[in-house]
Amino acid sequence: MTMPLPDPITSAGNAEVKRLRSLHERKYRRQTGWFLAEGTRTCTEAVELGWRLHRLAFLDGRGGDRMVRPLLAALDRDGGRALPMTESLLARISGKDNPQMVLGAFEQRWQDPGRIAPDAGRCWIALDRVRDPGNLGTIMRTADATGARGIILIGDCTDPYSVEAVRASMGAVFNVELAQMPEDDFLDLAAGWPGQIVGTALPASRDYRNVDYAGPLILLMGNEQAGLTPALMKACTQLVRMPMMGRSDSLNLAVATGVTLYEALRQRHPPEDG
Ligand SMILES: C[S@@+](CC[C@H](N)C(=O)[O-])C[C@H]1O[C@@H](n2cnc3c(N)ncnc32)[C@H](O)[C@@H]1O
Repeated sequence: MTMPLPDPITSAGNAEVKRLRSLHERKYRRQTGWFLAEGTRTCTEAVELGWRLHRLAFLDGRGGDRMVRPLLAALDRDGGRALPMTESLLARISGKDNPQMVLGAFEQRWQDPGRIAPDAGRCWIALDRVRDPGNLGTIMRTADATGARGIILIGDCTDPYSVEAVRASMGAVFNVELAQMPEDDFLDLAAGWPGQIVGTALPASRDYRNVDYAGPLILLMGNEQAGLTPALMKACTQLVRMPMMGRSDSLNLAVATGVTLYEALRQRHPPEDG
């Protein structure tokens, strides 16, 4: 049994609407520790994975839907609030003309950097000052797809909990661990790392297919404009490049991460069909 639903919200001046809308700004995400996720399927997966749901905004009249009822039950469990509202208010919160029927405000999770442990089965991806939320979301999605453990954000990075990054992750934000640390702390972590730290960099001479990705692995990727800092390059056990056969001098960061992750996956889990 879930709680009776409140009256629908119809005014853009409503404090809950303003609060959810403010989650587009990093400042308010930091203050509240919340972030927005869109769509019934994404919110359901998050709830099933045990993420804490603070608010559920949904189209008035849909509270009895088969897919919405478990979300309302999760709200009860988490002490959150149900917010039935008009479509135009959902559009206002999401910033899209065709909003999803359901928007959830979830509690962020950050891995304690001191607890990042080498894992022989699942690799970590470290990103140096990643700036583009679309790139970060796409990398979360590919990390999830290739069974990576999580992502370490080094230095001043874009926020993985921004609306754009969460959207681009297509729900993967709920299935990868996220940690952030200054470059010096990453260098300390790297100094004690028992396995490979494979960095990708344009000046490298070794082909990315010619290194061993076995064991506890960190895959280190550079900033979109500047690449890896010299100190980070020095911390790598291997530096690799992807061949560029045409006129472009580099790959997009998310594409380069995907290409390398799939080579690592090919080696770590060879295909069974030949
Ligand atoms: C857009 S590139 C950065 C280009 C930058 N101008 C530079 O000099 O490194 C972003 C990141 O993707 C990876 N990357 C892209 N193309 C690559 C390639 N062909 N070989 C190795 N790494 C590559 C590297 O980690 C790089 O730092």
